[in-house]
Amino acid sequence: MSSTNPLQGRTLAATADLSVDEQRYLYRKTRELKTAWASGGDLTHFRIRDPELNVYLMFLEDSTRTKESFRNAANFHDVKLNVFDASSSSFNKSESLVDTVKMLFGYGRRSIFVMRTKMEGVCRALEEQLGEYADRIGRERPVFINAGDGRHEHPTQEFLDEFTFLEKQGWDDSRIHVALIGDLHHGRTIHSKADGLKAFRSVTVDLVAPKELTLPASYKNRMEDNGFEIREWASIEEYLASGEISDCWYFTRLQLERMGDEVRERENELRQAVTFQQRWLDELPENTRFYHPLPRHREKPVIPSFLDGTSLNGWDGQSINGYFTRVIELAMVAGHMGGDFDGLGPVPEMKEKSFITEVPITRKSRVEDRFKVGIKPVDDGMVIDHIAKGCTPEEIWDRIFRIRRILQLNVRGSQGVFHTSHSLDFKGIISLPDILEISPTELKKLAAVSPGCTVNLIEERSVKAKYRLAMPPKIYNFTEISCKNRECVTWPGAFQNVPPHFYRTVGETFTCRYCGKRHEYGDIWDL
Ligand code: NCD
Repeated sequence: MSSTNPLQGRTLAATADLSVDEQRYLYRKTRELKTAWASGGDLTHFRIRDPELNVYLMFLEDSTRTKESFRNAANFHDVKLNVFDASSSSFNKSESLVDTVKMLFGYGRRSIFVMRTKMEGVCRALEEQLGEYADRIGRERPVFINAGDGRHEHPTQEFLDEFTFLEKQGWDDSRIHVALIGDLHHGRTIHSKADGLKAFRSVTVDLVAPKELTLPASYKNRMEDNGFEIREWASIEEYLASGEISDCWYFTRLQLERMGDEVRERENELRQAVTFQQRWLDELPENTRFYHPLPRHREKPVIPSFLDGTSLNGWDGQSINGYFTRVIELAMVAGHMGGDFDGLGPVPEMKEKSFITEVPITRKSRVEDRFKVGIKPVDDGMVIDHIAKGCTPEEIWDRIFRIRRILQLNVRGSQGVFHTSHSLDFKGIISLPDILEISPTELKKLAAVSPGCTVNLIEERSVKAKYRLAMPPKIYNFTEISCKNRECVTWPGAFQNVPPHFYRTVGETFTCRYCGKRHEYGDIWDL
């Protein structure tokens, strides 16, 4: 085991937790294992063989393939395998996940938790909370592998899917044209494709789903950000009529258990739109393969059973690949493999810099010139200017009150909505005669609450310091923000005590660090 192994100890909460290079490494090692296994070769060097390594399977939602392939993969490695029985545990006495996992963590020298939950973002939250706990008591940090969290992600399914696509293409990763068909709205195996398909250098994705089951905007945007070409149809029938059809079809079942009553009532009609029919067989390109993460509905499968014995059947081989890829994933995060990895790791988190700029003061920055419209000039104090510039007056008033509430500035002073000096845009101004300084923390807070504003500190009628505040790369540590996904581990009603944390994505959108939901800037605020 090498301490310089960059893969050791890595949590796999989302697909992007492995960089594309790291994913390719996983596929290469899996291919080596599969080849050696098929030829009856020696597999010893693939095995972890560490009786002090605890692999805990915690499936708090049903599973067959993922759970059993991980169970078999752990057995392959000669490690201590534990299967957590959620149905008869104190977990049902309303214990929090952190408390439950903390206890299990205590039982082994090294731990890997393979977790499936209905709640989203659990592995990331546990990685942080248990990581801190491990540091505190001087123990090796545990690893968390997300085996499917609600509608969010299913990274290990993603890795086996990409491995299967590569295998189909004879390991040519230059291009993929794939059709994603079925319940794209609820299917986490589809959502993980937004990052997983980056294993290919050029990607075209055909989305085939009726309106009610279309891919959520968060993932579609992510695919666009990743440079994928996206095309869309409402049914297989329409897709086939369009001409340019993929030879790699990835089906998913209708996730009725996650649907609201309104959508579920239309089940038959929706199912029909994404179920393959015999009469279409001749329209498929040569060498077409169908894939499916499984399970299939035994009565009304979207890939009907008459196709099982045909060359279209790619899904059985795909599910077997789950075993091989998971053997390697365990070996990687346990630090048994990866010492020979050479490539780029995941992109580091955006640094919190340069969203507060101190602006040089020029001689003409006299208070009387600058803050006279409707507000009494301040001799000594603080003026927050350019608040919500360009927004409607109503939005600006909202923002002014939000600033006052969140920064606790309900003190003496005045405020207003005005035209900006050079255009017909509106902006807000708050003037606070009693406040003579602002701390770096408050500046950060103000940048998060009202990006784009400027702060002027005035002494004896002249501006002594001026800061321009841009949109910060992360917003956290506020009691006034929340993720608007009720399945998120940060949702207050889940009582997991995980504070919300957003990072900035394209434009002014903010993505939840845990469940991956993208929000418009204004939507993260509760006040
Ligand atoms: C999938 C899952 O659980 O997300 N199945 C799997 O892991 N093989 C897909 C599904 O439930 O439909």
